[in-house]
Amino acid sequence: MPALTRRTPMLDAVHTAGTMPAAAATTSTAAVPLVGSDNGGHPERATEPESRLGLRFPDDFVWGAATSAYQIEGAATEDGRGESVWDTFSHTAGKVRDGDTGDVAADHYHRLDTDLDLMKWLGLHSYRFSISWSRIVPDGAGQINQRGIDFYRRLVDGLHERGITPMATLFHWDLPQRLQDKGGWESRDVAYHFADYASVVFDAIGQQVPVWLTINEPKTVVQNGYLLGSHAPGRRDEDAAYLVAHHLLLAHGLAVQALRSSPARDTWIGPAFNLHPTYPLDDSPAARDQAHLRDGFENRLYLDSVFRGEYPADVLAAIGPDSPMVKAIRDGDLRIISAPVDLLAVQYYCPYYIDAAGEAVNLHPTSEAFWQQIYPEGMYDILTRIKRDYGDIPLSVTENGLPTADRIGDDGLVDDPGRVGFLRDHFEAAHRAMTEGVNLQSYHVWSLMDNFEWQQGFAERWGLIYVDYATQQRIPKRSAHWYRGVIASNEV
Ligand code: FCB
Repeated sequence: MPALTRRTPMLDAVHTAGTMPAAAATTSTAAVPLVGSDNGGHPERATEPESRLGLRFPDDFVWGAATSAYQIEGAATEDGRGESVWDTFSHTAGKVRDGDTGDVAADHYHRLDTDLDLMKWLGLHSYRFSISWSRIVPDGAGQINQRGIDFYRRLVDGLHERGITPMATLFHWDLPQRLQDKGGWESRDVAYHFADYASVVFDAIGQQVPVWLTINEPKTVVQNGYLLGSHAPGRRDEDAAYLVAHHLLLAHGLAVQALRSSPARDTWIGPAFNLHPTYPLDDSPAARDQAHLRDGFENRLYLDSVFRGEYPADVLAAIGPDSPMVKAIRDGDLRIISAPVDLLAVQYYCPYYIDAAGEAVNLHPTSEAFWQQIYPEGMYDILTRIKRDYGDIPLSVTENGLPTADRIGDDGLVDDPGRVGFLRDHFEAAHRAMTEGVNLQSYHVWSLMDNFEWQQGFAERWGLIYVDYATQQRIPKRSAHWYRGVIASNEV
């Protein structure tokens, strides 16, 4: 467990951790592209009774899957792409398991059509991807790289051609290295560079993407990038961490403003937060207080600033009035941060249980990811809590999934019953929240395909589709066949 710093609650188990416009609902009949063998047996097995609960979703419910640029694209030095902090980090000895890098990853950049055909075969209504800032603006600010724009235009066009609605994230952790060299997110300027980059993207493809997400999991950058040092840029500095939190949130607000004054002003935009339901381990007042504070650092720091225009007082007090973060908050910043958004993107992986000493305790079995306790009820709790505490915001689940120990069987198939059970149970919890009035409009499984899982490299497989990295062959896992049936029937 990492050494803990003075103000931050224990971060032992931290990973890493209206109707939406133009949501196309297509049921694809495309043949399975590029699978090693035929589906032999999987469609039947995917409809085994225990995999289905007979729950129908609303007719306009949007089913999707998610990825991010650095995790799948590869082509790290091609077509004018600049370096990002993840290139630097993954190429630094000892930072990523087995020395893996995203240089090639799932080679999605070169296999775009194959992957788009797989999405169509799955029947996806929505595909959530991220845009690499350093493909569009290689140095982070200044010169624009047309070839980067062309790639995302091909992606967006390819989705529309297949009846799939694009949902794009502007920042999924791959900050241009040149900006890191100038202070990275510790520098207020970077928030303004982000808004400039966002404007370039909005001008180029903004109107073709009905839903925009600003920053993916700012908390993970804060905690993993700046407290634990397990993610790029690998810092362990609490003062820097919360300064970064403020600038990430400011960047979010500035990008919302940029969208509103762009040709894409009628599209939707919101933040993507990983939210952790945080429970006291027992009934003691100390455990309750500790859980409440931990909830502040996990959830309220981000939710209150965006949806209430204020930072939670207990969190600010814990960070300290003399901290660089608190001193960096300027008049008007919270107004920018709380610029009205159209949706909240929720990423749910696991809960925390906090004891009277403020330590997190695992109560449930974990997945292959050491930090992930499997607790589907947490999905219900977090969705209903958002409605209770922040109102009737349109919600999208933009990530939920788990890694399993997948391998290609002798029959050429990849059998992942654990993923089927996990998704079924989380879909059920989301469905129950919806029947109680939660305005959940879409659900994106993490992930479309196996990919570079940050400091775990390629060792963890999170995909619905197996990627054989030696050959780059794609094989839909049993869960992909099952999910295809869910989407086609709109029933779990
Ligand atoms: C989320 C990240 C995503 C992936 C999953 C497993 O925190 O946003 O890129 O790593 O976890």
